[in-house]
Amino acid sequence: MILNTDIINFDLQFEEIYSIINNHSMVEVTDIEGNIIFANKKFCDISQYSEQELIGQNHRIIKSGFHTKEFYKDLWSTITSGKTWHGEFKNKAKDGSYFWNKQMIMPRFDNKKTICGYISIGTDITTEKELSEKLTQIEDNLVQQNKNLQEKIKRKSDEIIKKEKLSMLGTMASRLAHDLKNPLTVVKAYSDILSRQLEDKMNYEMKMKVSKLKNSITDMSNIIEDVLDFSRTVELDLQKNSIFKILMIALENVDKPKQINVNINYSDIAIICDSKKIEAVFSNLLSNAIQALEEIGEINVRLTEEDNQVLITVEDTGPGILEDDMPRIFEPLFTTKQKGTGLGLSICKNIINLHGGDIIVKNAPTTFIVTIPKNIKKTNQ
Ligand SMILES: Nc1ncnc2c1ncn2[C@@H]1O[C@H](COP(=O)(O)OP(=O)(O)OP(=O)(O)O)[C@@H](O)[C@H]1O
Ligand SMILES: [Mg+2]
Repeated sequence: MILNTDIINFDLQFEEIYSIINNHSMVEVTDIEGNIIFANKKFCDISQYSEQELIGQNHRIIKSGFHTKEFYKDLWSTITSGKTWHGEFKNKAKDGSYFWNKQMIMPRFDNKKTICGYISIGTDITTEKELSEKLTQIEDNLVQQNKNLQEKIKRKSDEIIKKEKLSMLGTMASRLAHDLKNPLTVVKAYSDILSRQLEDKMNYEMKMKVSKLKNSITDMSNIIEDVLDFSRTVELDLQKNSIFKILMIALENVDKPKQINVNINYSDIAIICDSKKIEAVFSNLLSNAIQALEEIGEINVRLTEEDNQVLITVEDTGPGILEDDMPRIFEPLFTTKQKGTGLGLSICKNIINLHGGDIIVKNAPTTFIVTIPKNIKKTNQ
């Protein structure tokens, strides 16, 4: 038997519970198709729609588009089979911002115990979700940073190992070159003397052999000079020079087949530089272009000024450089030639860097671009 006082207590409790639920949760009631027939104040506040705007609208009005088809399939199959669905929902408010609900959706039954609609009660968990998203983002960033750092360490240690190997190799090569230099000078001197003394006694065939011998001696001494140049600490002899004149001297000294044309735009630019070293750079670049052309083609050299820099481009109509080789061509000892030492471009880079400049390469057409500041300061050395 229920006493009057019990009814009063029950009413009071119901009022309190109802008010607590309303303050804490978003409550929504829909018909069987999901059309809203009730939305409490909390639902209106968070979704930013008024009650009038919501009633009669389908629940889709707050759909965010975040969840997958499978997510909705699971939800509908649960509630249409008479069970309660629990889960987290990302929704879209009227102003386009998003909010998250921890939600419970239960079916409502009519007298005949058939489903006539749905009630959903949700707790706003937007702040928690945003925080956890931020944490995940921070974690992802940290993982990425860690990965980057590990890669950087690996790259650096590979570089150090490579540099150490190269410096060992450099020391060995320079010692070898140094030791070979004197005997080679003797060989050269005697071959000159012998060929002069035997000049009249030699037939054509013998003269050809002597000429081959002399060429080979020149090749060897060039290689020795390259190796020594590479390992020597270079001191620059800085003077004011005409870059055009240096280029002309380099051109005179390279071996160029007749069918290769070298076109130079005349531009008398004066720069402070070590003329011998810059000449060596031009010789190397021109020799590489000539070797790439294999007997026939064009080489275009341009001299231009830009701000306080002089720009020298050496372009050839040769086959170009393989993309895979591109990052390696300035490395010492990298060569694709049978008779190359692979020191030419690394010497060039070293000389240009000592002048405070840089040298880069591009394909199609193969172009080496050298930039040198016009007024190099002695401190650059
Ligand atoms: N103009 C060019 N066209 C195509 N490939 C080039 C050109 N210049 C340089 N290369 C490539 O770059 C590599 C390195 O050149 P580098 O001048 O350092 O050495 P090398 O010419 O092989 O030998 P050397 O020590 O005799 O100069 C060459 O072997 C070649 O593959
Ligand atoms: Mg070369």
